Amino acid sequence: MNASDLVDAARRAREHAHAAYSNFKVGAALETADGRVITGCNIENATYGLTICAERVAMFKALSEGHRAFTRIAVVADTEAPTPPCGPCRQILWEFAGDIEVILANTERETARFKLSELLPHPFDARLLKEK
Ligand code: THU
Repeated sequence: MNASDLVDAARRAREHAHAAYSNFKVGAALETADGRVITGCNIENATYGLTICAERVAMFKALSEGHRAFTRIAVVADTEAPTPPCGPCRQILWEFAGDIEVILANTERETARFKLSELLPHPFDARLLKEK
């Protein structure tokens, strides 16, 4: 699959966002190692704190469906500047996907591309737990 197809999937997923409080809709599309695409959108809650980001929805959907290996994630928001994943999402993506490619885009065009290790240098992960 080419990157623009993955971005288009994230754009479509964004349409399902429940962003009634921030009005900031985000879509994500996670590519599995065997070439499937699992999407997510942000889902907000009146308590605010129970809000979940598009990236984590996509990852938890994928994990719950048995996927365990991933190659890329596309994230789409309606901003001129790139909208990168928040800190907790970086940590979750690192845990389950490792150093995947993160493609950022808006409704019109790609805005940036990173390796997850650029966004989350010096991560805390299971390797450290195993040292004990
Ligand atoms: N949000 C995401 O879904 N992903 C991001 O990468 C950034 C932030 C959501 C959370 C919340 O619903 C809204 O955007 C504003 O923070």
